[in-house]
Parts: sequence; structure tokens; C-alpha cells
Amino acid sequence: MVPFTSQSYFIFLLFLLTIMFNGSMCSSNSTLVPCNEKDQGALLMFKHGVIDRYNNLSSWSIKKDCCAWNGVLCSNITGRVTHLLLEDSYLAGEINLSSLLQLEFLKFLDLNNNEFEAISVDNNNYVTLYDTNLEHLDLSYNQIKGSIPNLIGQQKNLKQLNLSNNQLRGSILDLLSQQMNLEYLDLSSNHFNGLIPEQFSQNNKQLKSLDLSNNLFTGSILSTLGNLSSLRELRIGSNSFSGTISETFFSKLSHLDTLDLSNSTFEFRFHPEWIPPFQLTQLFLASTKLGPYFPSWIYTQKSLRTFDASSSRISIVDEDKFWTLIDQCSLVFMSNNSINLQLSNLTLSTGVLRLDHNNFTGDLPHISPTTIYIDLSYNS
Ligand SMILES: *[C@@H]1O[C@H](CO)[C@@H](O)[C@H](O)[C@H]1NC(C)=O
Ligand SMILES: *[C@@H]1O[C@H](CO)[C@@H](O)[C@H](O)[C@H]1NC(C)=O
Ligand SMILES: *[C@@H]1O[C@H](CO)[C@@H](O)[C@H](O)[C@H]1NC(C)=O
Ligand SMILES: *[C@@H]1O[C@H](CO)[C@@H](O)[C@H](O)[C@H]1NC(C)=O
Ligand SMILES: *[C@@H]1O[C@H](CO)[C@@H](O)[C@H](O)[C@H]1NC(C)=O
Ligand SMILES: *[C@@H]1O[C@H](CO)[C@@H](O)[C@H](O)[C@H]1NC(C)=O
Ligand SMILES: *[C@@H]1O[C@H](CO)[C@@H](O)[C@H](O)[C@H]1NC(C)=O
Ligand SMILES: *[C@@H]1O[C@H](CO)[C@@H](O)[C@H](O)[C@H]1NC(C)=O
Ligand SMILES: *[C@@H]1O[C@H](CO)[C@@H](O)[C@H](O)[C@H]1NC(C)=O
Ligand SMILES: *[C@@H]1O[C@H](CO)[C@@H](O)[C@H](O)[C@H]1NC(C)=O
Repeated sequence: MVPFTSQSYFIFLLFLLTIMFNGSMCSSNSTLVPCNEKDQGALLMFKHGVIDRYNNLSSWSIKKDCCAWNGVLCSNITGRVTHLLLEDSYLAGEINLSSLLQLEFLKFLDLNNNEFEAISVDNNNYVTLYDTNLEHLDLSYNQIKGSIPNLIGQQKNLKQLNLSNNQLRGSILDLLSQQMNLEYLDLSSNHFNGLIPEQFSQNNKQLKSLDLSNNLFTGSILSTLGNLSSLRELRIGSNSFSGTISETFFSKLSHLDTLDLSNSTFEFRFHPEWIPPFQLTQLFLASTKLGPYFPSWIYTQKSLRTFDASSSRISIVDEDKFWTLIDQCSLVFMSNNSINLQLSNLTLSTGVLRLDHNNFTGDLPHISPTTIYIDLSYNS
């Protein structure tokens, strides 16, 4: 056994101190590099416009390092604010975008699901002031009124923009005419109106996901949107768009995975032998002028899981292909059409299946245990 000398005791003590010192550094990254004073000032200016009923921002005081404030994340190397994450915090009042964009290193700004009513922008010198790193901006699910500030369109690094479920209005021509290179754009459930500019697709060639649904947009957009060849998700229903959708529109959209044209007045004209360049997993065509023929290209979709063609005037289907398609899906909504097929002796196994308000006849079908919900009401 090694004798316990004062020298080894000293080394042990040093070892212990090292562990403790390292430990304390780990538990307070932020004291290593203190919060940048300019960033602290910008955050406090933002807080000034916020109504904070539940004191979610009570940690935001100069007594504390701003990198330790609720919702604030900093780079552990530079001490600069990179993320502001204050979703679901019951915050109201206004979002002072000018002050937040003074956070030069801010990449991620998420204020979704609060009660903000306005975005305020300080119009002095902003063009030269703001050269930001903002990549992700989510202001969805608030009560923001007014139009989209131009300042948002000037964020050249922005990849994800989500303004859905607010009360924004006006034209978005200015925003969408700018070279932006967005990958995700969600403007759904607002009161935007007007046209989608021709330049939109050239300015955002990388766009993967576009949701314009539930607004007041007008015009024919098909030539523009058909050029967005990176699209995986396209949702444009519940607007006043016009035009005829045919296979030409989809010719470049080979990555499409989700298509939502619900509640629209588009005319559909597909060649009966057309085979799409995509395989969808989700297809929403409820309340459209799809029928009377069930479009045969839908039978080619072997990955389809969710399918909604309620109230779409369908009466003529290919019986075998129709049941094969229904069987492969886990959610099917075909209510309120005029489909006239025999159900006797069939075995239905779709998880959720609505065939109500049609003209199905015969005896009740067999229902497999995999079915969770089935509605066959209002048939014959
Ligand atoms: C310190 O930084 C590391 C790496 O960024 C992180 O995983 C850790 O949670 C931080 N610790 C504190 C107390 O913030
Ligand atoms: C700083 O953060 C990066 C990643 O965010 C991490 O890999 C690194 O270990 C951190 N450095 C320190 C000293 O905590
Ligand atoms: C904000 O406060 C509410 C009510 O106290 C709480 O439920 C919520 O989790 C808080 N949010 C954050 C991000 O701290
Ligand atoms: C918003 O922030 C800017 C920049 O920090 C500031 O000049 C302006 O006064 C602020 N506006 C309001 C309404 O607080
Ligand atoms: C907003 O859109 C972005 C990008 O598509 C997405 O990651 C985010 O989850 C959306 N926010 C909400 C609250 O759905
Ligand atoms: C779509 O792309 C084609 C070929 O690249 C081009 O000629 C046409 O002008 C584009 N249309 C729009 C609206 O961008
Ligand atoms: C359908 O779209 C129209 C506008 O085209 C809109 O007024 C209506 O509310 C939408 N209906 C639903 C159920 O979304
Ligand atoms: C049923 O579909 C027709 C169009 O096919 C539509 O006019 C009607 O509103 C729909 N009814 C319901 C209850 O959805
Ligand atoms: C259902 O199956 C029974 C027994 O195999 C047969 O007698 C009957 O004709 C079938 N009904 C229909 C509509 O195919
Ligand atoms: C329902 O089907 C019967 C024949 O089975 C047909 O006589 C009737 O016209 C159909 N009703 C509708 C509304 O399509």
C-alpha cells in the first residue's frame, strides 16, 4: 500500500479543486462570456413593448446576465444572443421587430402561440442598420393585425417564415417580389389578398413547403407555383384562386408529398392515363369540383395514407381500384358524394373511414379490428 504522504494529499486536494472548478464552469456557461451589452439593451427594448401578464419575463432584469434570461440562448463562445424562444407564454402587446433585429447574431426567433397584436417597426435608417443572421421566424398563432413589414422581406438569411393564424391583411406582392430564398413559408389563416407575383418562384427556388390556405388571394397562380420544383408540401385551398389544374401544372413537382387544394374552385382536367411524377402521402381535395369521375391518377399513389375527397361531386369510381386505395390508407374522408357501390361481403380495414352521405347499397360490410371509426350513415 502506498503511504499517505502530505505530497499525495496535496495532489488529491488539487484534483478535487480542479473537479469543483470545472463543475462550476459547466453550470454557468454564461458567466464565462458575459452577455453582450448591446444585445441586453435590444432585449430590454423589446420587453418594453410586451404586456407580460404571467411574469414569464421576470428573469429579464439587469441584475442577471441576459444569456440566463428565460427564453434567451447565447453562443457559448461569443456570448451573443442566437435564439429567442418564447412560445406559449401568454405575451401580449407589440413585437418591436426593430429592436429584435438589432440582435445581429439572432438566428432563431420563435414567439408562436402568444397574444401579440402588432409588429412595430422603427422606420429610421433601418435599411443600413439591420444586417442580421435571422434564419427562422415564427410568429404564428398570435393576433397580429396590419400588413407584413417590409423589414421581414429584407432578411436575406431567412429560411423559415411562419406568420400563420394571425389577422394580417393586405397584399404580399412586396414581400414575395423580393429575392429571399425561403425554404418554408406559411401565411395560412390570415386575411391576405391580391395576387401572387410572377417572380415568386424565381426568388424562392429552394422552397420546400408553401401554405397560403385560408386567405383572400386571387388570380391564377398555376404557372408560378408549378415552377417550384423543390416543393414537398403545397397547401393553397380556401382562397379565390382561379385556373385549370391539369398534369402540366405538376410536371416539375416530382418531390410533392402533401397536396391540399380543399375548398377551391379550380377546374380539374387530367388525362385519364396520366401518371404523376410524385407519390403523395397526404391528399386533400374536399369541396372541389373534382367529380363526377374519380381521377384515375389517384389510384397510382401507392404511399397515400390520408385522403380527403368529401363533398367533391364524385359518383363514378373503378370499383376494384377504389377499394384497394381505401384499404391502403389510414384516414379516408369521402362523405357527401354520390358513390353507388355494393358493400355486402366487403371487409373494410381503414383506420378512420367516412363514407356517409353517399349512395352505397347492400348489407353492412365486415369491419376489421384495425378500424377505429367508421361512418356509413345516410346511404342505401
Ligand atoms: C453549457 O453549454 C453546453 C453546450 O452548449 C450546454 O449543453 C449546457 O446545457 C450549458 N449549461 C448551462 C448551465 O447553460
Ligand atoms: C459550446 O457549444 C458547442 C455547441 O453548441 C459545444 O460543442 C461546445 O462543447 C461548447 N463549448 C463549451 C466550452 O461549453
Ligand atoms: C409562462 O407562464 C405561464 C403561466 O405561469 C406558464 O404556464 C408557461 O409555461 C410560461 N411559459 C414559459 C415559456 O415560461
Ligand atoms: C423599438 O425599438 C427601436 C430600436 O431599439 C427603438 O428605437 C424604438 O423606440 C422602439 N419602439 C417602441 C415603440 O418601443
Ligand atoms: C411554422 O412553420 C415552421 C416551418 O415550416 C415550422 O417548423 C413550425 O413548426 C411552424 N410553427 C407552428 C406553430 O406550427
Ligand atoms: C417557369 O419556368 C420556365 C422554364 O424554366 C420559364 O420559361 C417560365 O417563365 C417560368 N414561369 C414563371 C411564372 O416563373
Ligand atoms: C371556403 O373558401 C371560401 C373562400 O373561397 C371561404 O369564404 C370559406 O370560409 C371556406 N370554407 C371553409 C370551410 O374553409
Ligand atoms: C355536399 O356536397 C355539395 C357539393 O357536392 C355541397 O354543395 C354541399 O354543401 C355539401 N354538403 C355538406 C353537408 O357538406
Ligand atoms: C355475399 O356472399 C354470400 C355468401 O358467399 C353470397 O351468397 C352473396 O351472393 C354475396 N353477396 C353479394 C352481393 O355479392
Ligand atoms: C342511388 O343508386 C340508385 C341505384 O342503386 C339510383 O337509382 C339512384 O339514382 C342513386 N341516387 C343518387 C342520388 O345517385
